[in-house]
Amino acid sequence: MSTEQQLLAAFPVKGGLPDEYTAVIPKDYPRYLIDGELLEWDGEMQDIHSPIEINDNGEFSPLPIGRCPVLDADAGMRALKAASAAYDNGMGRWPTMGVADRIRHMEGFAARLAGVRDEVVRLMTLEICKPRRESEIEFDRTVEYIDNTLSALKDLDRSCSRMVIDGGIYAQIRRAPLGPVLCMGPYNYPFNETFATLIPALVMGNTVIVKTPRMGKLLLSPILEALRDSFPRGVVNVLFGDRRVVQPILEAGGVNVLAFIGSSGAADALRLLHPHPHRLRCVLGLDAKNPAFVLETADMELTAREILSGSLSFSGQRCTAIKIVFVHRSRAEELLSRLDEGIAGLKVGMPFEAGVNITPMPGKGKIQYLTDLVEDAVAKGARVVNAGGGASGRTLFHPALLYDVKPSMRVYQEEQFGPVVPVVPFDDEREPVEYQVNSKYGQQMSIFGSDPDQVARFIDPMVNQVCRVNINSQCQRGPDTFPFTGRKDSAESTLSVSDALRCFSIRTLVAAKGTEGNKELISRILRQRSSNFLTTDYIL
Ligand code: G3H
Repeated sequence: MSTEQQLLAAFPVKGGLPDEYTAVIPKDYPRYLIDGELLEWDGEMQDIHSPIEINDNGEFSPLPIGRCPVLDADAGMRALKAASAAYDNGMGRWPTMGVADRIRHMEGFAARLAGVRDEVVRLMTLEICKPRRESEIEFDRTVEYIDNTLSALKDLDRSCSRMVIDGGIYAQIRRAPLGPVLCMGPYNYPFNETFATLIPALVMGNTVIVKTPRMGKLLLSPILEALRDSFPRGVVNVLFGDRRVVQPILEAGGVNVLAFIGSSGAADALRLLHPHPHRLRCVLGLDAKNPAFVLETADMELTAREILSGSLSFSGQRCTAIKIVFVHRSRAEELLSRLDEGIAGLKVGMPFEAGVNITPMPGKGKIQYLTDLVEDAVAKGARVVNAGGGASGRTLFHPALLYDVKPSMRVYQEEQFGPVVPVVPFDDEREPVEYQVNSKYGQQMSIFGSDPDQVARFIDPMVNQVCRVNINSQCQRGPDTFPFTGRKDSAESTLSVSDALRCFSIRTLVAAKGTEGNKELISRILRQRSSNFLTTDYIL
């Protein structure tokens, strides 16, 4: 059987989908959330199909899983009006609420999440074909992220629960909200990375409009009720649709923060819609082409294992994936042979199968794009090292290990965001360094080697090129308490549990000259607990 035939055989035949999934699809999700109300949309709906295709006697067709609203400009403006009214120029109930009370609202929301876990995980598995186990991990990681955020917020608040006295001035320094926030997550982490900005934005006292990702939308529907019930009206609004719903929100200039995870091109276009771009704080997670440098002294068993998982987890659809590998020419054949063996051991199949690694790819034109990248490299002299590499069947793409990749090939520069592993040999240490210096991207990199002097020679220049240098380890975002950011086209602002709280707030203080009259006035405000900001209350 050819690789293509094997790939086609991996799709379920008609009636062959597990009951657990067929029981819940197709289902309409017509609701969206504005101003504390779950509204039913009676306008245009989008048909959502899974990348899983059903084989009906050799005829393949995408599996319909449901429909959701394509909201219009008017809905966008209603959401903005609600978020602006709830913020009320910083005088609304939510932005002026004490931190302890905001935490209670968020705890109430987190407690509701367990009830929707199954539905969210099932929808994620179907809609973006993230393997079931990884979808569960994404959900659980998000719940843990909420817990950690609340702990970090308590710490932050405790450290601010005192007066600072300097130069005869008494001050209380805290962090205050910024205003309405527009949150847009990516398709590859539609749940986790939407919440990675939504949660810190909310707990810092901002009001939020969420626009669901391009793909991975339906899974946010089961959460709408919990959001409605857990927060005051207008504090969180959730919209489904495309650019038509987002554009008027930004053009109206009422949003103060854009939290966007996706491509730098889309981020640039969105930011430019705002009439006062200098007033728009941007929290952006963008493109990346993280390289791995494999040195002469690398432990090749460990290196191949890390590169395999680093480049092919979720079929390479991670912004942190290793997207190009530089290997010292003396170790190239050994690395290729181990990667070849590793790829052969990966399980290609449907996301609901246990132990599956490579699953159908979402996105119109994605398979063609990956095919073009491989064909371009081959036409310019690269070879596909692994048997069947680059073959495809419907939405499945068999991982391609490419060698020797050269600067003239598209895959040398472009972020493939899929299961293509380009390998470049080098003779001189300066070659991989120059690649990163000239790259448009600056998120992370990995160095594999065991000579401390040589590894150190790479660390010092590389920490000024990227924001995380991983030694003998694949690139990754976690743990979520670590700073996650990038240089150049890769990011703006830093996300981590504690950094995100800072991104969505601004240092603000109440200060007074230390006259007897002012001291007495401040003491009375503190004693009577008449301010939520000027307070020395300590959250236990
Ligand atoms: O797609 C980009 C994600 O932030 C990567 O996160 O390293 O945890 O897979 P991860």
